Amino acid sequence: MTLFDLSGKTAVVTGGTRGIGLMMARGLLDAGARVYISSRKPAACAAAAAELAQYGTVAAIPADLSTEDECLRLAREVGEREQALNILVNNAGATWAAPLEEFPAAAWDKVVDLNLKAPFFLTRAFLPLLEAGGTHDDPARVINVGSIDGLHVPSLPTYSYSASKAGLHHLTRVLARDLGPRQITVNAVAPGPFESKMMAATLQEFGDEITRSTPLRRIGRPDDMAGVAVYLSSRAGAYVNGAVIPVDGGLATTL
Ligand SMILES: NC(=O)c1ccc[n+]([C@@H]2O[C@H](COP(=O)([O-])OP(=O)(O)OC[C@H]3O[C@@H](n4cnc5c(N)ncnc54)[C@H](OP(=O)(O)O)[C@@H]3O)[C@@H](O)[C@H]2O)c1
Repeated sequence: MTLFDLSGKTAVVTGGTRGIGLMMARGLLDAGARVYISSRKPAACAAAAAELAQYGTVAAIPADLSTEDECLRLAREVGEREQALNILVNNAGATWAAPLEEFPAAAWDKVVDLNLKAPFFLTRAFLPLLEAGGTHDDPARVINVGSIDGLHVPSLPTYSYSASKAGLHHLTRVLARDLGPRQITVNAVAPGPFESKMMAATLQEFGDEITRSTPLRRIGRPDDMAGVAVYLSSRAGAYVNGAVIPVDGGLATTL
């Protein structure tokens, strides 16, 4: 078995129907894992599962993860099909930009519910399955998708988004301490700019400027996200716990 092999592992990727979640789901499948993807829209779930099927065994369970009830239902439905879970990727997320004076209360509720509370509720709901999947030598893995906007001060007025991501990075460290002894690691990935629906408008307007100010002179590629997901999920990443890993070509890390 190679250092990065995920054969025999089972993973859940929230928001796995497009963008960064799809990139990570494809990487995990390619490395041999069986993958459940989830997002709100049943049609998007079915289409993404059909697309991903060329890489391995994939199933989709639609759920609106902005409520704890739905987080619990997703864990219950996976638990009806699986004895154990090895990898939970908390990726589903939303953003909201508005000037300070106009920034609505709804922009806090929507963004914090999905970006910060859902990873907590999901991790807790999946604990029995994750504990069943982890061992001393090969712990189960929780991967939270944060953002470089939780590391530096972003240029856009995304107040609740950057706060939710900084909160998620810190929640990652807190849970890493609590769950390590239960044979579960908790880490975060902090992506820089990657093509997705969420980033489309930003890249359209500022893409060239972002590329110019990134030391590696490009935005992220699907393999960059697949790679970090496989690393953190495999034997290669078994001793990494409580880390927040920027994957941004140096954009925020060298500021
Ligand atoms: N793209 C970037 O450059 C970038 C940079 C830093 C961090 N990130 C983070 O990466 C993650 C993915 O972002 P993305 O850029 O790939 O965005 P995206 O293209 O908008 O994808 C978001 C995913 O989450 C799902 N989703 C949205 N609301 C949901 C809800 N209430 N319940 C369940 N699923 C929901 C969406 O599917 P449905 O619409 O079907 O629900 C979709 O699958 C987010 O956490 C984001 O903050 C992205």
